[in-house]
Amino acid sequence: QTRNVAVVIGSLREDSISRKLALALSGIAPPSLSLSIVEIGSLPLYNQDNDTDPPQAARDFKAQIQNADAVLFITPEYNRSVPGSLKNAIDTASRPYGQSAWNGKPGAVVSLSQGAMGGFGANHHLRQSLVFLNVPVMQQPEAYIGNAGNIVGDAGDFTNDSSREFMQKFLQSFAQWIERNLPA
Ligand code: FNR
Repeated sequence: QTRNVAVVIGSLREDSISRKLALALSGIAPPSLSLSIVEIGSLPLYNQDNDTDPPQAARDFKAQIQNADAVLFITPEYNRSVPGSLKNAIDTASRPYGQSAWNGKPGAVVSLSQGAMGGFGANHHLRQSLVFLNVPVMQQPEAYIGNAGNIVGDAGDFTNDSSREFMQKFLQSFAQWIERNLPA
């Protein structure tokens, strides 16, 4: 059975390496996973005053998360944490209280950076929120992608075999993780 995975990208810029990586992952995903990008760039800043009547963009985003079987986050690190736009998206779909779209969705995190540390800080700050939101996040394999600009090409391809193979294994493990952690 094919599982629908909502891919949430933590960068809004046009030339984003995270986005290129998302495309590259779509190209190598196992047949049991269907990856689709869910956009966060037009979400207004979350405001609790709007919980009774959320903006349409927030409703649409939340519905897309709700309709997915699982969630895959692909994010750069901003100042040793997650980009604010990504945190905003997480907050948006988590409310009103008790009606979180994230609840119980199996998840995985890929962080990246141009440097060597691979977005470790962003990866783990994101995990902190996901623990609270009851998203079972795959622990192994971890994906901290350093020197990310050298690993994915503009066309959404991998520039070397070992990166492609690593990410293939990551997605195969995620597919198994999803089957084990889908809500009953
Ligand atoms: C960064 N960058 C960055 N890199 C890093 O490894 N650790 C960090 O804490 C930060 N902080 C940071 C803050 C801000 C505001 C920006 C704009 C950038 C660099 C960042 O990882 C790099 O630009 C990535 O290429 C961004 O990902 P996308 O947009 O290519 O997907």
